Amino acid sequence: MRGYMEKRIISTQITEEDYGIENSLRPLSLDDYVGQNKVKSNLKVYIEAAKERGEALDHVLFYGPPGLGKTTLAGIIANEMGVNIKVTSGPAIEKPGDMAAILNNLSEGDILFVDEIHRLNRQVEEVLYPAMEDYKIDIMIGKGATARSIRLELPQFTLIGATTRAGLLSAPLRDRFGVVSHMEFYTVPELEKIIIRSANVLNVDIDSDGAHELARRSRGTPRLANRLLKRVRDFAQVKYNGHINKDVADYALNLLDVDRDGLDRNDRVILTTIVDKFDGGPVGIETLAASIGEDSGTLEDVYEPYLIQNGYINRTPRGRVATKAAYDNLGRPFKQK
Ligand SMILES: Nc1ncnc2c1ncn2[C@@H]1O[C@H](COP(=O)(O)OP(=O)(O)O)[C@@H](O)[C@H]1O
Ligand SMILES: [Mg+2]
Repeated sequence: MRGYMEKRIISTQITEEDYGIENSLRPLSLDDYVGQNKVKSNLKVYIEAAKERGEALDHVLFYGPPGLGKTTLAGIIANEMGVNIKVTSGPAIEKPGDMAAILNNLSEGDILFVDEIHRLNRQVEEVLYPAMEDYKIDIMIGKGATARSIRLELPQFTLIGATTRAGLLSAPLRDRFGVVSHMEFYTVPELEKIIIRSANVLNVDIDSDGAHELARRSRGTPRLANRLLKRVRDFAQVKYNGHINKDVADYALNLLDVDRDGLDRNDRVILTTIVDKFDGGPVGIETLAASIGEDSGTLEDVYEPYLIQNGYINRTPRGRVATKAAYDNLGRPFKQK
């Protein structure tokens, strides 16, 4: 474990525990996919058009914090297009030859899903440029003086990339995506819908107040909503005959260290650091990151967006500033500067 930030229940990164249930909870069609309405309506048009023309869908990039449904959407696109999807990830492809082999094995119309696409190394990435643009790759055969490059034609395919760190994507790669979609945090009513749907799939007894309480405290993130549902269910099963209402949800979430505003320990470490160590800010992102023992990019792309969107932190030219809401959450008196 690094620094003060810990991996706890609230982490939005996928955990071992999620793997089993996530697949069973993944919606399979756009209509079952809750929220992200802008992304969804755009995709509907592109999918429709590509199908009508009998062509592969344009390359798609999804970016945004973890747990918001990027992988799920890639699977849904494959379903809706009626094509195969091959799943890999940036760090898994080490050599240009590996990427060439993957591309060469695709069939007409297939989707190649590359998760954490910002972690592809440069040489591997360069194989993608002509592949994405012209469905071609050049591969080197032989070594030294007898080496020569031959050109391979690829089937028309769709690359779907997902990243939590859009800022780390190189411009040439980013520019080759025809569709670039930013994933938004979910609203409480949207999360309620997801929780109720998941409860049905998992056969969990939850009432609407219970679902509301869970939704409110899920950090705008479906992965977290599903994980909290499972934890609260276990708790309800042992103590309350398996029924989840508002009180049970509240009690269990408090035990799980998710506070009344839905903030977790990491959030509170960030807020406390700005308030106590830096007198409420402004404090530069690098300094803040160093003092909580986290990498500044992760802080910026994974932890901070929710706090900024919900008004706990302001981003100013001189650095991050804690707002009144942050002081209120921590139970400290707010001093106007
Ligand atoms: N829009 C949605 N509607 C219903 N469930 C969702 C939605 N988005 C995500 N989920 C659920 O949340 C979990 C995490 O989603 P995932 O696609 O793996 O997120 P990401 O790839 O962005 O980290 C999945 O199990 C999925 O069931
Ligand atoms: Mg994913």
